[in-house]
Amino acid sequence: MNNNSVWKSKGFAAEPISEDLNLVEEIERLKKEKNAIIMAHYYQDKAIQDIADFVGDSLALAQQAAKTDADVILLAGVYFMGETAKILSPEKKVLIPDLNAGCSLADSAPAADFEAFVKKYPNHQVVTYVNTTAAVKALSDVVVTSTNALGVINSIPGDQPILFGPDRNLGNYLESLSGRKMVLWDGACHVHEKFSIDKIADLKKQYPEAELLAHPECKRPLLIMADFVGSTAALLKYSIKSDKNTFIVATESGILHQMQKMAPGKTFIPAPPLDSSCGCNDCEFMKLNTLKKVYLALNYEYPEVFVEESVRIKALRPIERMLKISEALKF
Ligand code: 13P
Ligand code: SF4
Repeated sequence: MNNNSVWKSKGFAAEPISEDLNLVEEIERLKKEKNAIIMAHYYQDKAIQDIADFVGDSLALAQQAAKTDADVILLAGVYFMGETAKILSPEKKVLIPDLNAGCSLADSAPAADFEAFVKKYPNHQVVTYVNTTAAVKALSDVVVTSTNALGVINSIPGDQPILFGPDRNLGNYLESLSGRKMVLWDGACHVHEKFSIDKIADLKKQYPEAELLAHPECKRPLLIMADFVGSTAALLKYSIKSDKNTFIVATESGILHQMQKMAPGKTFIPAPPLDSSCGCNDCEFMKLNTLKKVYLALNYEYPEVFVEESVRIKALRPIERMLKISEALKF
C-alpha cells in the first residue's frame, strides 16, 4: 500500500497540503503541542536532519529512544529503527514518516527461515545485527550495531560458538578482526554492496591525498582498500579528527551532510555505485521520508509502529544486553 492509500484508508486528508504552509514551523509547533521528539538517522535527507532534535547512528538512536521523556517519538529512519524504539519504549507512541521504508538487509532474513537456521546450531550464541525485524531479534541472544559489534563479539567467551546474521559482509569483517570463525547468515544490504571498486580506484587516482572511508556493510575488497572502516558515527568522528582534508565516503550519501557541517573546511566525495547518474549512493528506503511526511505523521499521529507484546518481550532482552555492554565499553 503506498502512503497516499494509507492516508485514505485511515480516513485522513489525502488532498495536497497548501503551498503556503511552512512545514518547518508546523513541525516545530506540533513537536511542542504533542511533546514529541524527532530522531533521525544519518542517512536521512538534509532537511530532515536539520529539523531533528537528535541525529545519530543505529546505536545512538536506540540509546536515545530508551532514555527520552517525550510522549511521542518520530523516528525518521527505516521500519526496524521504529521497532527498536517501540521495543525499548513501549509506553510511547512511535511514529515513522513512511510505512514502506523497509530495509533490504532486514528483508534478507525472514523470521521463519532464520529460526530454522538457528535450530541447526543449538549450542551457538545468536548474535544479530540491529538491521532485522523484531521477530528475528526475538530469536537472538544479543543484538549488535556496527558501532559496538566487535566489542560485543569480544565479550563472548572464546570457546562459545557464535551464529551471526544477517549481514555476511559485516560478519566476514568481524571474523577478520576478532580472529573467530562464526556461522554466518547469507544476507546483505543492496546499497553497500553496489559500490564500484573500479570507479573508486579512479577517484583515488584523481585525489591521491584522499582517504577512503567505508562502512562494514560493504564488500570485502572495498574494506581491504579502505583507509578506515566504521559505523556511520565512527566515519563521521574519524573525518573530523583526521589531519587529511579530502575523503571518499563509501556509505549512504546522507552522512555527507553531517560531515560537511562538522568539518566545513574539508572535502567529502561520495563513493560512486556501479549504476548511478548522480555519482552517489542513496538508500531508496531511507529517502522515502520527506519533510512533508514528517509533518503528516506528527499531525495525524500516523503511521504508528506496533510490536506484538510477546515478540517485544523476547526482543527486548538481546537489545538490553547490547545496551549494557555498550555502556560498559563507553559507546
Ligand atoms: P549504522 O547506523 O550502525 O552506521 O548502520 C548503518 C545502516 O545501514 C543503517 O541502516
Ligand atoms: Fe537497510 Fe541498507 Fe538502507 Fe541501511 S542502507 S536501511 S542496511 S537497505
